[in-house]
Amino acid sequence: MTGETAHNLRGDYSRMRPDYTVVQDWAGYSQAEHDLWKRLYARQVALAPKYACDEFVDTLAALHFGDGIPSFEAVNAKLGRATNWQLVAVPGLVPDLTFFDHLANRRFPVTVWLRTPEEFDYIVEPDIFHDFYGHVPLLFNPVFADYLQAYGRGGIKAHELGAIEMLSRLYWYTVEFGLIDTPKGLRTYGAGILSSGGELPYCIDSPDPNRIGFDLLRIMRTRYKIDTFQETYFVIRDFRELFDATAPDFTPYYAELSGKEPHAPSIVLPSDRVYHRGAAPQRAA
Ligand code: PHE
Ligand code: FE
Repeated sequence: MTGETAHNLRGDYSRMRPDYTVVQDWAGYSQAEHDLWKRLYARQVALAPKYACDEFVDTLAALHFGDGIPSFEAVNAKLGRATNWQLVAVPGLVPDLTFFDHLANRRFPVTVWLRTPEEFDYIVEPDIFHDFYGHVPLLFNPVFADYLQAYGRGGIKAHELGAIEMLSRLYWYTVEFGLIDTPKGLRTYGAGILSSGGELPYCIDSPDPNRIGFDLLRIMRTRYKIDTFQETYFVIRDFRELFDATAPDFTPYYAELSGKEPHAPSIVLPSDRVYHRGAAPQRAA
């Protein structure tokens, strides 16, 4: 690699392979970037025991990702042994089909660049801190790892069926913003929450959002907000429930849902299994 390495520019797509992968060039990260990673990590990991599921906390405790930006190569040796997944480096967001194809082959795309210090609290696009800290620990869980591969396969099919929008809601409300009901109380396994300083306490402690039992068809019919904390979280009992509920062929589900209006993100339905009804006033659809 030359002086201007891939991660010096945000989303440098000029040097990627056809599958959107790049070289991580771990040696090219600056000391300032490693320090920023340590600060991001320290804040999130301090909150994790109270708000994150045990699977996440235990993996972090075992693997020590807090000393600086991790090398994918080093992590891949451990991840391969644990669940046969691999991380691949990408310049940033990749097209839907490329993303699905990686997941279907047990490859998780991780963005190579780190946010700036000004983006410590909030970032619009996923960076390496979100992609790695939020997503990678759960890839060490065998059931969750299988779910994510199945999701990738389902994505390729949803693409053919024109159903990506419905399937994306499932990803959003599980992989990114899912809650799990544990003996210690509600916890999160969602990467979008785990990597967020604000939403991690909010999703569990705040009286404002709804917390509703996982319901596959309901989720695939529910829109979501990308620029605020979530108005509704869906709660699984365990990863096995998630895997089993999503195992059937979705083709008839997509057909059933395609004629229906999507639900607003804030709505509570009579059929919902309500853990908590949000205190924030419900906005109109
Ligand atoms: N079973 C789904 C289908 O047939 C695939 C899938 C699995 C989708 C897991 C999401 C999560 O489309
Ligand atoms: Fe993510």
